[in-house]
Amino acid sequence: MFLLPFAVPERFRQAGQAASQQRPKRVYTNDDAPFNRPTPSAPSAATGIADPSGRPREAERLAPFVPTPMEIVDKMLELARVGPDDTVYDLGSGDGRIVFRAAQKYGAKGVGVELDERLAKDSQNQARELKLDKLVTIIHGDILQTDIQPATVVTIYLLISANERIRPMLEKTLKPGTRVVAHDMRVPGWEPYREEAVPMGSGTHFVYLYRIPEAFQRPPAR
Ligand SMILES: C[S@@+](CC[C@H](N)C(=O)[O-])C[C@H]1O[C@@H](n2cnc3c(N)ncnc32)[C@H](O)[C@@H]1O
Repeated sequence: MFLLPFAVPERFRQAGQAASQQRPKRVYTNDDAPFNRPTPSAPSAATGIADPSGRPREAERLAPFVPTPMEIVDKMLELARVGPDDTVYDLGSGDGRIVFRAAQKYGAKGVGVELDERLAKDSQNQARELKLDKLVTIIHGDILQTDIQPATVVTIYLLISANERIRPMLEKTLKPGTRVVAHDMRVPGWEPYREEAVPMGSGTHFVYLYRIPEAFQRPPAR
């Protein structure tokens, strides 16, 4: 059931290479300069959160772009029981596939937050092409500077260290009843409500479902 600590970063590395090979028009690899260069934070108008110092804060790149396979996207949305009343935030939305699927399949609103400008722009264009722009918004910005309070469902596929980094914000901001679905990487310190292992190819993907606030609030001991 448990992955060796080095197994998942290896998937990130391999999948990053595979993703770049599948996309001849635009090649994203983990060595791409835009991924490795710290990007200035998105303007506060886009994020709704002002930087206390007044200076733009440097955004932290919390994971490389590795797309979640569509079968796993479907599993994540199904586990969270996404429906038309939901607002799904994908934190680090990559090519936008999770929020597009949530809108297309369930009629949910979707908000993708993506640091990489090219990915954000491409997915904004894709939203228009798919005629999903009334339901889906892509914010070119930093997860850590984005107001995610409207979310009823949050999806993440980030490194474990990144999940740990964003955890205080999730705990502080998300409303009770919000579901958080994580692909492959747990949120350290949280207790999943459900977890599923999905065998695929030569490996296994893991999906963790958390509920706010039960994931981090234990009932008081008697
Ligand atoms: C592993 S990919 C997941 C993409 C998509 N969520 C999926 O599951 O297919 C992680 C994404 O997070 C983005 N990212 C990394 N750090 C970020 C940050 N601080 N703010 C917003 N996006 C970030 C990366 O550019 C990348 O596209």
